[in-house]
Amino acid sequence: MSTGAVGRAYPRLEGREKVTGTARYAVEYPVDGVTYGWAVPSAVVRGRITRVDTAEALASPGVLAVLHHGNAPRLAPGPQPEVWLLQEPAVHYRGQFVAVVVATSLEAAREGARLVRIDYDTGPHSTVLAADHPGLYRPDKVNPNYPTDTAEGDFDAGYAAAPVRVDATYRTPAYHNNPMEPHATTAHWRDGRLLVHDSTQGASLVRATLAELFEVPPESVRVIAEHVGGGFGSKGYAKASVVLAALAARHVDRPVRLALTRQQLFGPVGYRTPIIQRVRLAADADGRLTAICHDAISQTSTIREFAEQTAVYTRSMYAAPHRRTTHRLVRLDVPTPFWMRAPGECPGAYALESAMDELATAVGIDPVELRIRNDAQVDPDQGRPFTSRNLVACLRDGAQRFGWADRDPTPRARRDGRWLIGTGVAGSSYPARARPSSATATARPDGSFLVRINATDIGTGARTAMWQVAADALGVPPERVEIRIGDSDLPTAAVAGGSMGTASWSWAVIRAGQALREKLRDLPGDEPSGEVTVEVSTDDEVGGQPTLPRYAYGAQFVEVRVDADTGEVRLNRMLGVFAAGRIVNPTTARSQLVGGMTMGLSMALHEEGLLDERYGDWVNHDLATYHITVCPDVESIEAYWLDEQDDELNPAGVKGIGEIGIVGAAAAVANAVHHATGVRIRELPIRVDKLV
Ligand code: MOS
Repeated sequence: MSTGAVGRAYPRLEGREKVTGTARYAVEYPVDGVTYGWAVPSAVVRGRITRVDTAEALASPGVLAVLHHGNAPRLAPGPQPEVWLLQEPAVHYRGQFVAVVVATSLEAAREGARLVRIDYDTGPHSTVLAADHPGLYRPDKVNPNYPTDTAEGDFDAGYAAAPVRVDATYRTPAYHNNPMEPHATTAHWRDGRLLVHDSTQGASLVRATLAELFEVPPESVRVIAEHVGGGFGSKGYAKASVVLAALAARHVDRPVRLALTRQQLFGPVGYRTPIIQRVRLAADADGRLTAICHDAISQTSTIREFAEQTAVYTRSMYAAPHRRTTHRLVRLDVPTPFWMRAPGECPGAYALESAMDELATAVGIDPVELRIRNDAQVDPDQGRPFTSRNLVACLRDGAQRFGWADRDPTPRARRDGRWLIGTGVAGSSYPARARPSSATATARPDGSFLVRINATDIGTGARTAMWQVAADALGVPPERVEIRIGDSDLPTAAVAGGSMGTASWSWAVIRAGQALREKLRDLPGDEPSGEVTVEVSTDDEVGGQPTLPRYAYGAQFVEVRVDADTGEVRLNRMLGVFAAGRIVNPTTARSQLVGGMTMGLSMALHEEGLLDERYGDWVNHDLATYHITVCPDVESIEAYWLDEQDDELNPAGVKGIGEIGIVGAAAAVANAVHHATGVRIRELPIRVDKLV
């Protein structure tokens, strides 16, 4: 019996705490005797530490210790070499953390870090991705577990035979996650147990990694992530801050707070790899695709393989008899790339949806119509019908809301004074997945309920959404429900990533609610006298779910104006329509979608990690020099969604909305810029110097 909580626009439960500054983040908890850690990055790209001189640092007021590979507590080597820190003299990339200074104040720690002297032997390095890099290789699989290459039909023959062809290469630079709260941790060892407050997307996972690294049982580690100031993927695993803080706390035997600086986020916590994508499309004279090929080249580090699944988007988006996708990788002397909002789908859609626009121009068909004509109700990759696919409905609804119908396809046709006006469209899709989770539900004698699950709210509104789901599952008004999340002592749950948090957690919460109601029904007497608790896990149910093509879809529409003389690009408006299953909370959902679209706009026009091969590092590593979209750039962004019911997803019927907003957004902007100016920029960001 639903009480109608799901679908209602509740404000965030913790909204008041957040806007009044009382919500505590990882390094804001009051802790007796707390000390401060400051991470010291390597000043060389590749080499070996030959000497660490800590004398001056240790003599500086307030400095308690300097940890480095020579004296830091030992860690077990694990599957994540990038957090096996301070264990060896080898340096694998510039910015690798090679020491930590611990002091009684933040200022003293920072000053101490300045005084640590490190000598290195250095070797040659290679840090720039190139399509002809001699180190290119074929990885065994791509993130997280997709086949590296796919092929069906005969692409070369199909392409050669087609009357209309597009062959375009798109380049995107490194992109850096910049959550408002940096990677930050407070760590404390007490009687062999480790307690950390960490800024993470998944406390269960961080606990497991710490237990492995420090060789203690998982029960001896507790990770609390009550509030998290953003992650975008960069906090999806245990990262440097939590490991360094735990090492330092063990070494000085006191609580340690360690926050990475803004500059230190540019690389060591992961970033979106630069990518070179070649897309070839062939169509008949009616614009029906006959051949599709998407080849992607990206980079990884020398210490771990991360292969962005760039071309995976193309495998399922549009159908054609002849199709091929490939991924190639090169190991460079760089930090390991990692997840950034819609890894794979975001850059892949930029290329494919740009190429579709180029095809629309080549074949002389409206780009909305071209996509509608090439819609597929059967997944070209799996060969099975999509559980629901409303791309066409999104395109139609978006076109109507946006006012697409009377668009003159001719580039440079609209002008308003010095501004050239153009419009662009792109498709969007993102997989709807779920992972096993567990939860408990408790009935209390006073008629209230407690639901516990180690979900993480990284600013998305997940806590509020789970509270709504729990109320409906229990069949009581949400005011009677208390939800507890963000603590590894709670039942283990999936990470907040891959747009699968809500699907995964609500699955467990709904099953816990159902189990509790059944148990209460079976109890003798009217009211239970004490607390009644049930615990459920969805391991079997989620694991046993048939593999089906489950995706959310969207259509992105953009209008830009471009200064005819200076090439300045401004956004007039951006409008997205999405089909993402049931929407749990319209307020927080809209924020997710608009946030994703804004990040896509930022990718199209501003963001660019500029690497200087001489230093082997990004030269722009702060928010003054790494440009991002800000409020004045965003004059009008609207997100809408279609009512969509899909019974083959999960008990809540949700598809996930954290990532789809960014997918296709950059292509829609680039396509609009082409329409405005007649200039096709295939290398993001679209800067003035590329347009004039
Ligand atoms: Mo998302 S990039 O999977 O946190």
